[in-house]
Amino acid sequence: MERGDRADHNDRMNGKRIVLGVTGGIAAYKSPDLVRRLVERGAQVQVVMTAGAREFVTPLTFQAVSGREARSDLWDHGAEAAMGHIEMARWADLILIAPASADFLAHLAHGLADDLLTTMCLASAAPIAVAPAMNRLMWANAATQANVQQLRARGVHVLGPAVGEQACGETGEGRMVEPAALAEAALALFPVHGPLSGKRVLITAGPTRERIDPVRFISNRSSGKMGYAIAQAAREQGAEVVLVSGPVSLCAPTGVRRECVESAEQMHAAVMKEAGTADIFIATAAVADYRPAKPADCKIKKVTDTLEVAMERTIDILHAVAQLPRRPYVVGFAAETNNVEEHARAKLERKNLDLIAANEVGDCKVFDQDDNALVLLWKNGGRQELGAGPKTLLARKLMAFIAARYLANAP
Ligand code: CTP
Repeated sequence: MERGDRADHNDRMNGKRIVLGVTGGIAAYKSPDLVRRLVERGAQVQVVMTAGAREFVTPLTFQAVSGREARSDLWDHGAEAAMGHIEMARWADLILIAPASADFLAHLAHGLADDLLTTMCLASAAPIAVAPAMNRLMWANAATQANVQQLRARGVHVLGPAVGEQACGETGEGRMVEPAALAEAALALFPVHGPLSGKRVLITAGPTRERIDPVRFISNRSSGKMGYAIAQAAREQGAEVVLVSGPVSLCAPTGVRRECVESAEQMHAAVMKEAGTADIFIATAAVADYRPAKPADCKIKKVTDTLEVAMERTIDILHAVAQLPRRPYVVGFAAETNNVEEHARAKLERKNLDLIAANEVGDCKVFDQDDNALVLLWKNGGRQELGAGPKTLLARKLMAFIAARYLANAP
């Protein structure tokens, strides 16, 4: 992140009051680092520890990094006199629990209130976010999954867990998301005020899968990274963001609503449901242009030497949105291997777009890479280079550009 961006970013967390709940798990050793990163971004942090957490880290460590006495006892008369648990519940702009153990998630899901942290969660109207951390089998356990599902349905933000090596020596899903990423995710939970506040941005991302038979499909190498980075950048501009995504291995950016789809047909349906109320539409998805005309109902057996699969055209989603009577500001992408700008400009005209972002692909360029290079083209010969760089940075530049052009022409 660039310096200026960091300053804007910090503004969003400046003075925000975060209660950081720490529960009993080995990942608790990373929580002081999380406090530091939240404080660094301008937040005030009040740590609340469960009895289990005190087995892993001392309250003094948290006091040193947060500048506030860490609380853990519901029956501590002295501390309650200073700020009672109900007062603390009201004080919080956000309650973040990191790490959140399986036991804590079960307590929260069932509304139990047998210590300071669980009581506070029950007594607060603030948004709650949990960063689960536990052994992979505990995470995969049906009981934990049911609890997490219930929490999600109630609007609790579930951040992670991450996949990797675990303290118990096993490898799998269950690690706490790293403090730096958690601090960013917490930041993204605060309402964003930016140039696109009150505007709706609809984005497509990733590849589509077109079914050949029940076990095979045709797809492409799109990773979804550019689209996801744009979704996050749009959110940072204050927009309400809907991300219609093909199958990718990325987590939805915090604060972004994601609709998961597989085929071009499903993506088209999901987009058309949202397009009527969108202010800006950005098509980054690598939608299949053709799909098998008659997908087989059963697995195709290898009984012939050659196999021909008849293909038919899919619907052009971008074109369909651009044809709507009350259309959003429409942005397309052009991935080309040669004559990049010439092809992109033809696409801009043919699909009736407001803006097209062109990039060169092939020879290990772009697909599944973290870097990209974009040129923006619009009607009447308009052209601007965004240059090369990480997709996250380009996405921010692109969104700033789109926001400026959209707002300049907004009715
Ligand atoms: N797109 C879409 N729906 C499709 C196909 C493409 O929304 N069925 C969008 C992509 O998300 C992207 C742009 O259209 O924004 C890319 O245009 P497209 O015509 O698919 O590019 P190419 O397939 O490369 O076109 P051509 O074969 O004409 O080069």
